[in-house]
Amino acid sequence: MVRQKVQAPKGVSEYFPPRSKLFEFVRESLIAPARSAGYQLMELPVFEDTELFTRGVGESTDVVSKEMYTFTDRGDRSITLRPEGTAGAMRAVIEHSLDRGALPVKIWYSGAYFRAERPQAGRYRQFYQVGIEAIGLDDPAIDAEVIAIADAGFKAIGLKKYRLEITSLGDAQSRAAHRIDLMKFIATLELDEATAARAALNPLRLFDDKREEIRAAMLKAPLLMEYLSDASRAHFESVKGYLDALGISYVLNPRMVRGLDYYTGTTFEFVHELLGAQSGIGGGGRYDGLMHELGGQELSGIGFGLGVDRALLAAEAEGVISVDGFVSDLFIIPLGDSAMVKALGLAMQLRNAGKVVEIAFGERALKGAMKAADKSGARYVVVLGDNEIATKSVELKNMNSGVSTSVTIDSLINAL
Ligand code: HAM
Repeated sequence: MVRQKVQAPKGVSEYFPPRSKLFEFVRESLIAPARSAGYQLMELPVFEDTELFTRGVGESTDVVSKEMYTFTDRGDRSITLRPEGTAGAMRAVIEHSLDRGALPVKIWYSGAYFRAERPQAGRYRQFYQVGIEAIGLDDPAIDAEVIAIADAGFKAIGLKKYRLEITSLGDAQSRAAHRIDLMKFIATLELDEATAARAALNPLRLFDDKREEIRAAMLKAPLLMEYLSDASRAHFESVKGYLDALGISYVLNPRMVRGLDYYTGTTFEFVHELLGAQSGIGGGGRYDGLMHELGGQELSGIGFGLGVDRALLAAEAEGVISVDGFVSDLFIIPLGDSAMVKALGLAMQLRNAGKVVEIAFGERALKGAMKAADKSGARYVVVLGDNEIATKSVELKNMNSGVSTSVTIDSLINAL
């Protein structure tokens, strides 16, 4: 009897060869600018106490109210698979007293995140983010740097068709002033019970409602931008000034609503033009109250999360990335035992010099090995037999042009 195959759970993103090379490239490209700016790795658990997210991310959010993977563990604790990275990073900063050292605390992270969303192209239940957090400084220049780091990552991938949207959600004073007028406005709308309850928790959520009638009604709602305190306005103007100076273009989107409740002040999103409904390739912002909410001191922070899956889809949509760009440099075909010994040593030497080198293994005829070399997509192939070892030279075959050149084994590295 043939046993039934087990399949991956619905809606997860998976990467396997050859496309996994592209995933790796995209993830590395997004991390590199953060490393260059002195951010340091934080490696955290993928599961946390559920309370971290209900308190940190906010109960009015879809992420917390509908999309968390929550379960009770063997010790009767409520555990949740992390839906995002900021709350966990802040938890760890407080727990390990990093905020008692030099500020800002600058960390980056990369890994899998989990949201029980309705799967579709670019929206997964397990997806990947690269993120950074800079905690403990209010300086608008760091807002600009954080945004610039995200932008540099997308540029390193080769992306062009995206825009940066920014807004400010102001400080507590700005939001309190806005909230009074927004609540008054919302009271004039006819809302169902669930929507009214969500609005009571966080009235800004209504700007993010997908229903056409609510969208239309909210076009007349008062905008937070018009209620910014002098301090918030000055901070935001300063951020924009730095972005201008850096040559990073942006559009103002005063209606932006992020899906997480902790945001305050500078808030931003990167939106790709070719991705359809799931066009957000990254987003972030400031979070003034988060550390305090999680039991720490009153320090502000700012950070971003970039969607690795979506950045990869965007790169493919723009045609700036292809598996052909990630092939091995050399494929060695050894003929016989002593040639294998030589091949293993030679491969190690070339790999130490940074080359990607593969060897044909197994009792294969030359023809079979050539086929394997072809399949691997390697740029060059050499056949290593007794004759080559004796003369210390090989025929280096360029797999693109089909042309072979005779080179000494010692000069292979230069020839490659
Ligand atoms: P977020 O906007 O919820 O922010 O997620 C960041 C990025 O993750 C999104 O722009 C998107 O590219 C990707 N993403 C989110 N959900 C999915 C999904 N279901 N499938 C595929 N990709 C997805 C945060 O998570 C904040 N923690 C970012 C942050 C850090 N803010 C401050 N610091």
